[in-house]
Order: sequence, then structure tokens, then C-alpha cells
Amino acid sequence: MVRRLRLGVNVDHVATIRNARGGRHPDPVRAAHMAAAAGADGITAHLREDRRHISDRDMERLASEIALPLNFEMAATDEMVGIALRHRPHAACIVPERREERTTEGGLDVAGNLATLTPMVGRLADAGIRVSMFIEADPRQLDAARAVGAPVVELHTGAYCEAEGEARLRELARIAAAAAHAEAIGLECHAGHGLAFDTVKPVAAIPTIVELNIGHFLVGEAIFIGLEASIRRMRQLMDEVRA
Ligand code: PXP
Repeated sequence: MVRRLRLGVNVDHVATIRNARGGRHPDPVRAAHMAAAAGADGITAHLREDRRHISDRDMERLASEIALPLNFEMAATDEMVGIALRHRPHAACIVPERREERTTEGGLDVAGNLATLTPMVGRLADAGIRVSMFIEADPRQLDAARAVGAPVVELHTGAYCEAEGEARLRELARIAAAAAHAEAIGLECHAGHGLAFDTVKPVAAIPTIVELNIGHFLVGEAIFIGLEASIRRMRQLMDEVRA
């Protein structure tokens, strides 16, 4: 049976553009409503420690105003756990975060942080939040995600998107192997980071991946073709592979 592939639209960079000037425009919540109309299955937002794009107020509004499931990307800190417990999003994706990075570089070291992550996943899960770990396509990290009690992993596709030629194929094979391993050990498998029209199809073709989270490219492409059109096109490319 071919499983439907969900599309989570990350609205962080609508807030990046707004914050370049301050004020209220463009509004990431409006973008979330538009994403829903264009065929998104969920909305993703990352409240960073430095609040460089999504703000606390955005998070509050996304949690209360949008009908689609909200996936809250968060660092493994007590502050973020408190915010997640207050808003109770559908899902929380735990990501590594460093202040000096431009975007989330590399996956979370779950294997090296079992003692901190296990109780954190437990608190979030007890609140009914579906927790995922944003990790590299590495079987050791997948096993660790299972060990901390996370039901979901999201595989980092950044290296695949940046690589070219043979190297890209090698990265793709690593992602496919990790996605198969996820299924074998009972984890739901998502993927994301850096995906664009020209890189999405091979990842969408991996049958055990059930969700892609995509943001920066969609918002960038919206400058040229509009947000709805960019999301609809991405949705179409994903559906073509699963048809
Ligand atoms: N998934 C996770 C866990 C992320 O941290 C990000 C970036 O915030 C994405 C997906 C989306 O990446 P991009 O904006 O490059 O599409």
C-alpha cells in the first residue's frame, strides 16, 4: 500500500522577513492559513532561543488560531519545554540549537544525551504531545531516539540537498537506509531541511517516510510565484511520486 506523504509547511522565514523591518507584515499566521488552503497537512514553527524569527506571540497565535496540526520545533531546554506544555501543540520536534548558526546545522546527538532527553520526552508525551527527534540518518541515533521514548524521528536532509552528483546519491542512500531502519524499530519517520523542487522527489519516493517539513525554499519561491503556488507545486511533486 502506498502511504500518503504529509507536507508540513515551516513558516519561520515569513517571520524573518517581517523582523527585518519590525512591525506586523508579513504575518506568519496568515501564511499558515494560506498553507492550509494550498494543501499543507501541518504547520511547523521553530521558536529559537534568540527569537530571531518566530516570536512568543506568533507561537501563541499559531497554537490558538490555526486548525492544522502544529509542529513546534524546539531546543532541549527547560524554557522550551515550559512553552510546549503551555501551548500543547500536536507535535514537538527537538532540534539542536546554537546561537551562532544560521540554521539548524546537523542533527541532535540523542545518543550522547540520553539522560537529559529521556525525562524531557516523558514530560512532553505525558501532555499528549507527539515528540520527534531531528537527527542525522545514523542508525545509532535512531536507536537512541527509540531508547528515549520518542515515537517519531525526523531525518536531516541538509547534507543530501547540498551535495552534488555521486555524493548526493550516497546521502540519499543513507537517508533511505535510515528510514527503513526507523520502520524496523517501530519509529515513524519524517524528513526535512533544505528541500526544494529539484531535491524533493527522491526523498518523497522513500516509502517509509510519511512527512516532509519544508520552509525556506517555499517562502523564497513565494517571492516569484506566490506562496500558495509554491506550496501547491511542492505538494504536486510529492504526490506524483506517491501516485
Ligand atoms: N525540519 C527541521 C527540524 C528544521 O529545523 C527545519 C529548519 O527550521 C526544517 C525542517 C525546514 O528546513 P528548510 O527551512 O530548510 O526547508
